[in-house]
Amino acid sequence: METPDKITIRRPDDWHVHLRDGAVLEAVAGHTARAFARAIVMPNLAPPVTTIDDALRYRDHIRAAVGDNATFTPLMTCYLTDEADADEIRRGFDEGVFSAVKLYPAGATTNSAMGVTDMSRVSGVLEMMQDIGMPLLVHGEVTDPEIDIFDREAVYIERVLSPMLSDFAALKVVFEHITTSQAVAFVRAQGPRLGATITAHHLLIDRNDMFKGGIRPHLYCLPIAKRKGHRLALLEAATSGEESFFLGTDSAPHAINLKEAACGCAGVFSAPAALELYAHVFDQAGALDKLEAFASLNGPAFYGLPANEDTVSLVREDWQIPVAVHTAGDADILSFMAGETLSWKLAD
Ligand code: DOR
Ligand code: ZN
Repeated sequence: METPDKITIRRPDDWHVHLRDGAVLEAVAGHTARAFARAIVMPNLAPPVTTIDDALRYRDHIRAAVGDNATFTPLMTCYLTDEADADEIRRGFDEGVFSAVKLYPAGATTNSAMGVTDMSRVSGVLEMMQDIGMPLLVHGEVTDPEIDIFDREAVYIERVLSPMLSDFAALKVVFEHITTSQAVAFVRAQGPRLGATITAHHLLIDRNDMFKGGIRPHLYCLPIAKRKGHRLALLEAATSGEESFFLGTDSAPHAINLKEAACGCAGVFSAPAALELYAHVFDQAGALDKLEAFASLNGPAFYGLPANEDTVSLVREDWQIPVAVHTAGDADILSFMAGETLSWKLAD
């Protein structure tokens, strides 16, 4: 079948993004707002977003960074700690400030030190969330140093996620940025109360790419990219149209000097070409007709929100991914696949 030169889909949303704050926020927010109507904004600032006031302040910063005339809606999340206050979280959800709670196992990734040390510490909060239908967004990796970094997601399913879903049988959960065939199979087996986001970079790279001709720190992220077979399982899931799988870029900006370092930060900054990267991947898979479900319909359905009314068009046109984004803090942030040519472009 011939593929078209233009596709029009409902405007998509990004169900997992890091916008940071301050100069970095100013530099990156527009890239997300350019393509997406809404975004679930991660709360792993330093210090993290744990209260309604934190979220309102942060939301104001985001709105200011995007500018007055943009129609972008940031959806705020609450960072779960051992000391989390269930009443505060419930009130934040009732008042429409918090859309979800983010669970970072303590020590799993960037700014996760304040995360949860033991699931028993947050059972009261999870019970409350289950009662009110508030989604829990999970960074699904164990932190046990004995577990190989490439196995941390699969082991998390057995040790934490599966027991949690049994204990809280009605809790809505998003398994964020899944990277393994085990996660794909697990999500499918759970039915509609478990969703999963899939990043563009995990659809495009496998672990070999991190070491192609040398070490490639800009491809280092968490969960780390796995073997090719896992990537193909993600690709099959994303392009299946199934409701459980939806778009979440996990675009995670870090200054170049913090990536190209003896101990570099985890994170791939994909926002400058995020939607186009997904279009490229779906086109290569012969599945452009499934892009709208993945990018624009499945996420809202999971969150109980309407799909966006307006549309965006992507046209078949070569363009180069901008190499870097400059911040007023004087740090450059390198884009994922910087300078490479993509054949799908968001129309103005
Ligand atoms: O690669 C990652 N970067 N994974 C995460 O879970 C966090 C993120 C970040 O905040 O930089
Ligand atoms: Zn993330």
